Amino acid sequence: MFSFSNAERKFVAPPSEVAIDSFFPEETADKLAQIESYNKHLFRPNTYLHKWWARRSGVTFRSILKQLSSEPALRDFYTPGGLEGLTILDPMMGGATTLHEAIRLGANVIGYDVDPIPVLQARATLTEISLQEKRAVFNEFFEKLDKNLSLYFETSCPNCHEKSDMQFMLYGLRRKIDKDEALFVDSFTLRAETNGDKKTILDFYPSLEVTLGNRTWLLIDKDEAKKSGINDKHSELLGIPFMDRYVPLVMVGKCAHHGQFFKAPDHKDIQNMVAASTRVASLTFPGDNGFGVPQGPKSNDLIARGVTYFFDLFSHRQRIYLSEAKRYIDETAPEHRLWLALLVSTSLEFNSLLCGYKGVDQRRPGAIRHVFSHHAYSFPCTALENNPVFKDRTSGTLRNLFEKRIINAGLWAKGPIERRWSGVRWEKVMIEGELDLGQECQSLDEFTDKTRSFIIRQNDSSVLPLPDHAIDYVVTDPPYFDNVQYSDLSHFFRCWLHWFLPDQANWQYQPLLSAVAESRENESKFGGILAKIWQECHRVLARPHGRLIFTYHHWRAAAWAQLTIALAGARFRLMNGYVVHSENPISVHIRSLRALKHDAILVLKPFDADDTGHWEKPVSIKMDDSASFCRGCTQYLGWILDNDFDHDTICHLWKDFIRSE
Ligand SMILES: C[S@@+](CC[C@H](N)C(=O)[O-])C[C@H]1O[C@@H](n2cnc3c(N)ncnc32)[C@H](O)[C@@H]1O
Ligand SMILES: [Zn+2]
Repeated sequence: MFSFSNAERKFVAPPSEVAIDSFFPEETADKLAQIESYNKHLFRPNTYLHKWWARRSGVTFRSILKQLSSEPALRDFYTPGGLEGLTILDPMMGGATTLHEAIRLGANVIGYDVDPIPVLQARATLTEISLQEKRAVFNEFFEKLDKNLSLYFETSCPNCHEKSDMQFMLYGLRRKIDKDEALFVDSFTLRAETNGDKKTILDFYPSLEVTLGNRTWLLIDKDEAKKSGINDKHSELLGIPFMDRYVPLVMVGKCAHHGQFFKAPDHKDIQNMVAASTRVASLTFPGDNGFGVPQGPKSNDLIARGVTYFFDLFSHRQRIYLSEAKRYIDETAPEHRLWLALLVSTSLEFNSLLCGYKGVDQRRPGAIRHVFSHHAYSFPCTALENNPVFKDRTSGTLRNLFEKRIINAGLWAKGPIERRWSGVRWEKVMIEGELDLGQECQSLDEFTDKTRSFIIRQNDSSVLPLPDHAIDYVVTDPPYFDNVQYSDLSHFFRCWLHWFLPDQANWQYQPLLSAVAESRENESKFGGILAKIWQECHRVLARPHGRLIFTYHHWRAAAWAQLTIALAGARFRLMNGYVVHSENPISVHIRSLRALKHDAILVLKPFDADDTGHWEKPVSIKMDDSASFCRGCTQYLGWILDNDFDHDTICHLWKDFIRSE
């Protein structure tokens, strides 16, 4: 009988040819994932061109893929290659962690996602284009934008009155209090210096009054309002456009002589904003088509705030930016449009009125709280309007994003770097000979005799456009039941990308195909779609070595029950399970769920008639420690899959086991 005892891996592995059935370097993978999880984008810059949610640690997937090498010597984490000749599929690729890691090891890879953004991002990051060429294209694009945009961000230094550039503008939120209105901000503090000095909004508005045109508002600190009970008496101005609910308060800019400055916007600064609104009136946008905010678990938060079009979330200057960017993307050579459009799209996370201010700390001057820092829409009182063509590489500027997500990423792709523990500290080691780039193919036939080839396609993986037994390993990371509403959140970018790249994806896609439970009422939707995907994986996996390997975590019994139902329906048996660190506890989408800091790595085999069960039923589960919890769930999953229970029994079994609901 097969079981985990004392929450440690002590078991006798079933005889098998596949190394990962009986071994995984849990301890090293766990340590590596712990350090990577704090700054995933710095560890693997080439996977992070565009925003996508719930990305897994690259080291975890490298560790998994390494064990799939048929050469024991090549299973070492720091040895290059090892998957040459194998075909790896990720049917739900998201940020494409599997594809990038498998390509580096020499595999041919296939990636599908139902959403166009992961598909475009994977294609852009895996395709090799000279960095010199990209720089020339970017410089030309930036120059054209700058010429048309920077005049609206021009200001003067409050010390010497010389012409300077605005870096960003902070706004306060108008709210109704009784019959009047007031301006709410998240905090009066603008900057806390290390010597104890503070720069605050009151430096510019000592009487707490703000006047614009013929109106005057009282300034209110949101937290103070809560303490004094004002919060219960105010209401949002839902009837007016989102942009008009914000009033400019403080501008931050940079003078060639005096460095960064803060000031209250003057007459000329306000005139710039008026000029921008006149300009917007003469610009062409694609109309409302595709820009309407749809109903959805997260989009409903926008609708509740009276935001019905995605345009509404952008200031006049930001709209000019979007319109001009579209014009210049169209003027760019076709082979460069994809990465350029993705760069502009991802910059919207730092250039919309949903951005907040977190520059209070002196060590991080000007840092922007970006739109999705909470895996949901949040509505700041202090809104931050960034200047995308600001010349310095500050947070969220186009130049900064280009250097990090295109140049640094491209350099890394040609010399990928890992971390190794020296006994004293973590050291960087380049993995000589690996490349995080490949050649795009259209069909499996083109894979013959090749390494590092890829097929990427937008596809609902309930049906895989692949022949039987064509895939050596499926390595994936399915959605976590109800945790992240990818298809709903990605509307924010999708409407703009659709406009920028009308022919490069199927933009009419159905969010309902996404394997996510949107609410407690449709939990079985997750299991239903996943069952079809696992059935297809069962069909396309080669025999006898083919395996389905994926990461999973969730506290709720229903999440495990739906996963089990899907796997049982697709006739998979659990060969083994391992547990590694997944996210650091401050990571937001797990904060509200108690810190579930681990991922279970599940190794499954398509069931054949002569397979016998080998899992022992665990007696109970430890709920107070996340690693033991994941181990307990793994063993229980193994035991249920070994027995042919019906759906209702599976649900009851999990409810009995995890009594958390
Ligand atoms: C957890 S994410 C993958 C994250 C990825 N492993 C990473 O590290 O970035 C799951 C992905 O599954 C995709 N997905 C959901 N339902 C799908 C379906 N029916 N067909 C294909 N992809 C689907 C979602 O769009 C999402 O991108
Ligand atoms: Zn100056």
